[in-house]
Amino acid sequence: MIFNFLSNSSSFLPPEFLHKIFINSLKLNLFKNIKRFDNLEFNLLKQNFPNPLGLAAGFDKNAEAIEGEFNLGFGFVELGTVTPMPQKGNPKPRVFKIPEYEAVIQRLGFNNYGLERFLDNIKKYRINNKESIIGANIGKNKNTSNVNNDYKILFESISPFVDYITINISSPNTEGLRDLQKKGNIEDLLSTITKCNKKNLPTFIKISPDIDDSDLKNICKICIKEDTISGLVISNTTISREQLYSKQIRNSWKILEEGGLSGPPVKNLSNTIIAKVFKLTQGKILIVGVGGISTGKDAYEKISLGCNLVQIYTSLIYRGPAVVSNILSELSFLIKKDGYSNVTQLVGKKVKNV
Ligand code: FNR
Repeated sequence: MIFNFLSNSSSFLPPEFLHKIFINSLKLNLFKNIKRFDNLEFNLLKQNFPNPLGLAAGFDKNAEAIEGEFNLGFGFVELGTVTPMPQKGNPKPRVFKIPEYEAVIQRLGFNNYGLERFLDNIKKYRINNKESIIGANIGKNKNTSNVNNDYKILFESISPFVDYITINISSPNTEGLRDLQKKGNIEDLLSTITKCNKKNLPTFIKISPDIDDSDLKNICKICIKEDTISGLVISNTTISREQLYSKQIRNSWKILEEGGLSGPPVKNLSNTIIAKVFKLTQGKILIVGVGGISTGKDAYEKISLGCNLVQIYTSLIYRGPAVVSNILSELSFLIKKDGYSNVTQLVGKKVKNV
């Protein structure tokens, strides 16, 4: 009910207000739809994943509604991006919906309540929930004087309470952040992380779909070499707008707004990078695929290109909570139909065959 209201009112209520209602309704556990699919269960990173579909970073920046998110049926949840200090982000309006493409452009700029609140919320959740698989996505404060130190503080404080950490160096809305993907910078940052990762907590790097080939190759090389880096989250939002020019858009001014584009228009961009990484690393690192998944078929495609896990954000905005079980049911069906007994057998199948 409430989610029908949310999607029907999406044209006249501000997206950030709707998001707040969504988070609050999840906090109240208004929706529960956990289903088991035998062929989607697997073990990875010493964890039992009930399914490979996770909530992408940015939806729950403050770790406020973890239980409600798992009740939607997700196999794992990535919280954040959290920064060491609270910050307000960019001036509003800063989120724009493009319904013609089921897409979003946003320049939130890491608005969040900061590390302390984030940790309190995770600790509270952990009291009764030791098993569910939680990741934390970490980023630097806009005005920090020491970038690597921001990541160090976040990593050391959060790592005892989560199952993996994602180092976000790819959001387009924090000046200079994506430069951390460049040769020299990435090595510096990762040597800091490696030093504080004493317990070998699985660690991922989240990259941009706009990354250039030489930076991508360098990052792949590092991932293979560094034992402490488990793999890549591919991808964040794109700054490109090429994918938006095929349809007449009612409010076409929106596509000129600065920010990261997400949803179906980012799908091919991120899929191309996923396939490249799988080939470059010969399947030796883990890949979390995110960008434009709305259906089980989209999830199937990403996994067949080399993803071990997948995530969604934008389709949750347009299709509501039921999108999670819809994706999982279709994925489970497709896997069976194509003769695989488990989702893990599908990983990279499409890349290997070309
Ligand atoms: C995001 N995304 C994001 N990613 C991240 O690493 N940290 C963040 O704080 C955010 N914030 C954020 C806010 C909003 C409103 C959106 C739509 C997206 C990016 C997100 O996690 C994902 O990588 C992309 O959106 C692509 O996936 P979807 O949305 O096409 O499924």
